[in-house]
Amino acid sequence: MYLSREEEMMWNGEFGDIIERAIKAVVRYGELMGADRLVKISHAHVSGISIFNIGDAGLSFIEDVAEGNARFRVYTTANPYAAVDTTFEGRAFNDVIVAKQRRIIESLRKLGATAFTCAPYYVRRPGLGEHLAWAESNAVLYANSVVGAMTNREGGPIALLEALIGRAPNYGMHLRDRRVPDYIVNVPKPSNYVEAAVIGYLIGRLNPTQTPLVRGVPKGIPEDWVRAMLAGFGASSHQPLMLIDGISPDLKHLKCLIPESLERVSLEERNIREFIKDHECSTADLLVAGCPHLSPNELPEIVARAVSVIRSGKVRARECWIITGDFVSDSMLKRVGALGDSRVKILKNVCPVVTRLNEIGVNSVCTDSAKALHYMPKLAGVNAYLLTSLR
Ligand code: F3S
Repeated sequence: MYLSREEEMMWNGEFGDIIERAIKAVVRYGELMGADRLVKISHAHVSGISIFNIGDAGLSFIEDVAEGNARFRVYTTANPYAAVDTTFEGRAFNDVIVAKQRRIIESLRKLGATAFTCAPYYVRRPGLGEHLAWAESNAVLYANSVVGAMTNREGGPIALLEALIGRAPNYGMHLRDRRVPDYIVNVPKPSNYVEAAVIGYLIGRLNPTQTPLVRGVPKGIPEDWVRAMLAGFGASSHQPLMLIDGISPDLKHLKCLIPESLERVSLEERNIREFIKDHECSTADLLVAGCPHLSPNELPEIVARAVSVIRSGKVRARECWIITGDFVSDSMLKRVGALGDSRVKILKNVCPVVTRLNEIGVNSVCTDSAKALHYMPKLAGVNAYLLTSLR
């Protein structure tokens, strides 16, 4: 692989041992993926920071890196961490887990992580054509498909190493000619947030290893519906890009290059309705909204609706957790919190999906997120259902 003068210096240890090891690992990974060189990135996003997911081995890896002199070379954000500081009806996580999760957060802060959210595009929105090294599927999909930035769907540890050297291997989504559709899927017009999330999820299930060109998404669809659709798609597919007619900037250059012979498939309204019917429920221990993290624009309305849904008994739940990131100001939190009910908690910077909720007495969750629905049984140890009355 071609290395610039500065990259050679990193390779030869002139920036220290950690950077030398980081560039050697990233180059090895790049060679396996067929990259010809490294590309400079402007923003890295690290995932995989829940103590429940990465365990002691992941904690040692992050602490070892942070104990050296190396620091992130580019603007870096990280995924939300496990909600170990939160209680459920007064039940708390054990102190050992809480302490380990805090050590992970502290090490990442020491390395230079500026925020802990799965919506880094609300913290720093990348520019068109900007090269990134993002891990976290919904963020990767949002960056590529909505913003027109360029990032592969990195793994958590690799994104951390890429943050240290400010480079990513030049392959896949960093190459314009790889950002093309493999097939066309026509979708029905979603009539709410949950339907948009389910459409994304079902597209991913159609063909998890190919890039769709999605047609039928109406102009002017709310931004959070698009986010929900991409998050759902990311849960059931491995792809880093969904090209959406009328939304994805790449399509402006591609239009005339898309062959008419591309395979076409359709999702029907009944597919969406049946999926929702099979998964919805109105009774659970816990309601969860904010997977991915809610934007400041949505938060007040979702909190107000959650309070109303719980008070009216329309959904029977013991608590409701509404999740967002640090991009929501304390004054807004205070204002929104005042709408509340003690059963409705607004949590920042955490991910309930990567939290072993069964350890604090939660057995079932109702959520408006197709992504949470997919992952929670395995990662959170709970039964998960769709919540349709919040949106
Ligand atoms: Fe975010 Fe966790 Fe959902 S990282 S997208 S809240 S699974």
